Amino acid sequence: MQLGSGPFGNMTICRPSLQSCKCHPSERVSGITAEDVNGTWFVDNANKLNTINGVVNGPNVLEFQDVQQSKQEKDGLTSNGANGTVVRDEFRKISVDSIEDEAWNLLRDSVVYYCGSPIGTIAATDPTSSNVLNYDQVFIRDFIPAGIAFLLKGEYDIVRNFILHTLQLQSWEKTMDCHSPGQGLMPASFKVRTVPLDGDGSATEEVLDPDFGEAAIGRVAPVDSGLWWIILLRAYGKCSGDLSVQERVDVQTGIKMILKLCLADGFDMFPTLLVTDGSCMIDRRMGIHGHPLEIQALFYSALLCAREMLAPEDGSADLIRALNNRLLALSFHIREYYWIDMKKLNEIYRYKTEEYSYDAVNKFNIYPDQISPWLVEWMPSKGGYLIGNLQPAHMDFRFFSLGNLWSIVSSLATMNQSHAILDLIEAKWDDLVADMPFKICYPALEGMEWQIITGSDPKNTPWSYHNAGSWPTLLWQLTVACIKMNRPEIAAKAVDVAEKHISRDKWPEYYDTKRARFIGKQAHLYQTWSIAGYLVAKLLLADPSKARMLITEEDSELVNAFSCMVSANPRRKRGRKTSTQTYIV
Ligand code: GLC
Repeated sequence: MQLGSGPFGNMTICRPSLQSCKCHPSERVSGITAEDVNGTWFVDNANKLNTINGVVNGPNVLEFQDVQQSKQEKDGLTSNGANGTVVRDEFRKISVDSIEDEAWNLLRDSVVYYCGSPIGTIAATDPTSSNVLNYDQVFIRDFIPAGIAFLLKGEYDIVRNFILHTLQLQSWEKTMDCHSPGQGLMPASFKVRTVPLDGDGSATEEVLDPDFGEAAIGRVAPVDSGLWWIILLRAYGKCSGDLSVQERVDVQTGIKMILKLCLADGFDMFPTLLVTDGSCMIDRRMGIHGHPLEIQALFYSALLCAREMLAPEDGSADLIRALNNRLLALSFHIREYYWIDMKKLNEIYRYKTEEYSYDAVNKFNIYPDQISPWLVEWMPSKGGYLIGNLQPAHMDFRFFSLGNLWSIVSSLATMNQSHAILDLIEAKWDDLVADMPFKICYPALEGMEWQIITGSDPKNTPWSYHNAGSWPTLLWQLTVACIKMNRPEIAAKAVDVAEKHISRDKWPEYYDTKRARFIGKQAHLYQTWSIAGYLVAKLLLADPSKARMLITEEDSELVNAFSCMVSANPRRKRGRKTSTQTYIV
């Protein structure tokens, strides 16, 4: 539930370090009182009615109120307070004169408050939906574009609060069937709950209640949350100039905890992170368990961002060494083994199999028959991309957008590969963009494959949702990638496509069908990251230099070490001797 607690009343005592704060009596939270006239709107998701509480929200109060009011009128909703109509009539009616203004108003409308301070944004504020599920929570990954939009607007507080509060959730003890997740795991989402205060019948306190996957559909642990958190932390510092947050001892510890969890030794032979299905934006079973590209791109990006922010101190020398080694091994692995284009495809087509040796060309024992007919047709002569996943005897040839785009942004892909990915996007525009940017992956799993891989998931039917549905939020990552490669016109074209109907469609979460012609079957409307993704794309296209806070450039030491490795082996002879060489950057 989205809450806007009043910080100014006598009863509010904030105790953020305990992740709880005492609030106003409960009737003030759901009702309207005289002094609330200048208050901030919030959505009471329990009954889908608009109410006001006692928080004055600075200069944005009017905008906030106006859009809520117009939304209320549009949707035919009524206020739940006795004075609601009176209050509503007091508000100025403004017409939303541009999509961008509307988006800003909606974004502000989605802000969640904790102890009276903005702390995040709710996943969706869809007044027409009776099926809220967990869309009334603040999702870490969903907040990233919202946070970036606020940073670009110079509104830093909400991002700072988000970073610090989610940090405190990191160390919460949570268990599922007597098992706790690894220390350092960040939640997928959290909720601000209002609970009665012990010993006082009329007062309430707010608590932050995180979900690490123990309540999530499918019980999926969010591997991406901590990685995004690090990326946002760096962006906050770069954009606001306030480095004091990343320098704080608790924040430094938080970074290290995430890194330790990711860099811990396991059974794996690969430098890529081994994760279960559904551990990222695609948080349902979609056959991406193993080493999905999206996680690897975020991992690489987070490692680079963390290296930039970690304070040099004796105690972290080992961690930095492990981090540098991993960066190098990871980029080598992805660039070499995940990359495909016409040339590479033809190599795979002619692979020999069952090579038992240190210098095998076909290291992962890929059977050429895995090259699906769709791919033979689909691969453009100019362009290429990073495949979705690599496992023993398995290449997932699907094109996953976020992984490819973030590989460009983070410099996990080489310059040539990055240009080739954008070439492919241009060549395959009708498949990847068509009527609404941007396909989450391509192509869809169909028939028997869909049955086996998704477990006959009715939400992930072909060309819907995660199974090749189109997600407007991906506009922002596309924009950052295009700006990095100095090809912003591609992103601008996609924004034009979105602008044609995204506002009229009420900012859906996703679109269905091959050409993204329908609003998704079960798509939530007024989905915050669709709104924020559009805003970030617009703001960055207006001032591309701002994209720097998200981009990480390849550093020259890494390039040198990398070229050393390439000349020492890759698909040339790979003997045991070369593996004794270490590459500590
Ligand atoms: C869906 C998406 C996930 C997102 C969540 C909230 O579960 O798959 O990526 O974070 O909705 O919007």
